[in-house]
Amino acid sequence: MKRLGVNIDHVATVRNARGGFHPSPILAAKNAIKCGADSITVHLREDRRHINDNDLKILSRTKIPINLEIACSIKMMNIAIKYEPNFVCLVPEKRKELTTEGGLNLVKNYKKIEHIIKKLNQYKIRTSLFINPKIKDIQYSKKLNSQCIELHTGKISEMIKNKKNYLNEFNKIKKCSSYAKLLGLEVHAGHGMDYKTTKILNNIKEIEEFNIGHFIIGESIMFGLKNVIKKFQKIIKK
Ligand code: PXP
Repeated sequence: MKRLGVNIDHVATVRNARGGFHPSPILAAKNAIKCGADSITVHLREDRRHINDNDLKILSRTKIPINLEIACSIKMMNIAIKYEPNFVCLVPEKRKELTTEGGLNLVKNYKKIEHIIKKLNQYKIRTSLFINPKIKDIQYSKKLNSQCIELHTGKISEMIKNKKNYLNEFNKIKKCSSYAKLLGLEVHAGHGMDYKTTKILNNIKEIEEFNIGHFIIGESIMFGLKNVIKKFQKIIKK
């Protein structure tokens, strides 16, 4: 059964716009789980532009399954160890980007990632690597001992939205998913996804988890979190 992870970062973005406490990402997380989300994703960015340390602290005291996205740094690794989320997804991070623009450079960051995964595994935290759909990156992920990979779906999502021919990109993701599964890696997918992208990528049976944020939070303004999560679960669990 495929799972839906709901990224609540942008509830914090709205809160931070006024510097107060409303809307609460903690309440959003609890509500999302109540409405059928399988887990909650938060990206604790180095510049803390959305979720902050206190949010993570409070979330870590709940029973909600938390997938914490962090940059590949020792400082962020230590924060993860402190709060012990269920899962950690390592992502590339650039200060000026609007959102995570691409997958990790596993060659350049090999030693650091190897160390972080080893350490997180000691704390029984499941690790995932956010990568581009490339066979070489799957091989490196396996060598690095990660339990999961999350395939960056930003490119195919843009192609689908702009009505471009996405077949090559789809086949690339499909091939990478099968190969990763064959190597024993759990396959996740995320970035830029909406209903249509999810419907298309849901045809890849090896993908076990979708992590979706911006669209879910944006759509919830109009239709409510419950209806939006229900609609996604209907697509994913069919
Ligand atoms: N997965 C990862 C690793 C991400 O970094 C992000 C964006 O923070 C997402 C999924 C969700 O992307 P979106 O907000 O575009 O749905």
